[in-house]
Amino acid sequence: MTDLAIETAGLTKVYGDTRAVDGIDLAIARGGVHGFLGPNGAGKTTAIRMLATLIRPDAGSAKVLGRDVVREADAVRGLVSLTGQFASVDEDLTGRENLRLIAKLYGFRGGAATRRADELLEAFGLADAADRQVKKYSGGMRRRIDIAASLVVSPELLFLDEPTTGLDPRARNEVWDIIRALVAHGTTVMLTTQYLDEADQLADRISVIDRGRIIAEGTSSELKASVGSGTLHVRVMHRDDRDAARAILVRELGVDFETTHDPQALVAGLEDRSGVTRALTALEDADIGLAQFSLGQPTLDEVFLALTGHAAEEPTQDAEEAA
Ligand SMILES: Nc1ncnc2c1ncn2[C@@H]1O[C@H](COP(=O)(O)OP(=O)(O)O)[C@@H](O)[C@H]1O
Ligand SMILES: [Mg+2]
Repeated sequence: MTDLAIETAGLTKVYGDTRAVDGIDLAIARGGVHGFLGPNGAGKTTAIRMLATLIRPDAGSAKVLGRDVVREADAVRGLVSLTGQFASVDEDLTGRENLRLIAKLYGFRGGAATRRADELLEAFGLADAADRQVKKYSGGMRRRIDIAASLVVSPELLFLDEPTTGLDPRARNEVWDIIRALVAHGTTVMLTTQYLDEADQLADRISVIDRGRIIAEGTSSELKASVGSGTLHVRVMHRDDRDAARAILVRELGVDFETTHDPQALVAGLEDRSGVTRALTALEDADIGLAQFSLGQPTLDEVFLALTGHAAEEPTQDAEEAA
């Protein structure tokens, strides 16, 4: 037995000229949420489809909960569940019908299937919508029924593939609450996301994936620290003050500020934020009026830029050139 939920060595999947997953090594502990963070096309879905035994690796190996995904695929299937970006509930059926059908597929008989469906509908706040067709659900309800469908039998490990992409903030928060509740009940969750803030909210550890490769691993704070503590945006009220403001900021913070096309704005990335309060006081002491003074967390784009030297949203032909 192993304590690892997921262990891979050189895991690879190739589609034509695209190395969708290009030799990844993972060692992910049981329990909690592991985030798989990367932009569109990074290889997240391909990686978890291999781990969930839906597609076969072209090279390398993977064990899920101690079982080999190729040689012991059936055993793996019995232990995991996948809620896809393109999940499998039937749009024309109602929520209850979908869950009852899946329960029957898993061997629940008659009344037991209905009871399991109703339990899940209740737990996911879908009891009122139980008899409505899934195609009439809102985006948030749709994600909830997707997740409910993957929990008809409690899996030890749940793969969630971008469960909140495209949701509004309220629906996204509901999905986050569900994920936290699952983890509290002991399920290990492997979550793919394009959003640093989502990984930040949920994941104990994060693997950053880009062009099929793991380019960084750590906690969210470790990843952010690797790109500095964020970006300071300052706008002076009067453009004549910009040079004076810049001199003060450079002196107090020890970093160079860029001027932008906005004649009142100054921007700098900070390694640490300890001097920020002092810098603000110094600007006030110099009677420089400020329209803006804000320190933003590094965005995913900034993390990507720092880790890879390229932006997250580059077109794919660029990826092919680099490969
Ligand atoms: N079935 C497939 N056939 C051909 N190319 C694929 C297939 N699935 C994925 N790809 C390619 O592999 C790369 C990774 O895709 P994917 O794993 O879906 O990334 P992500 O989930 O991170 O957005 C992309 O370049 C994508 O176009
Ligand atoms: Mg995907």
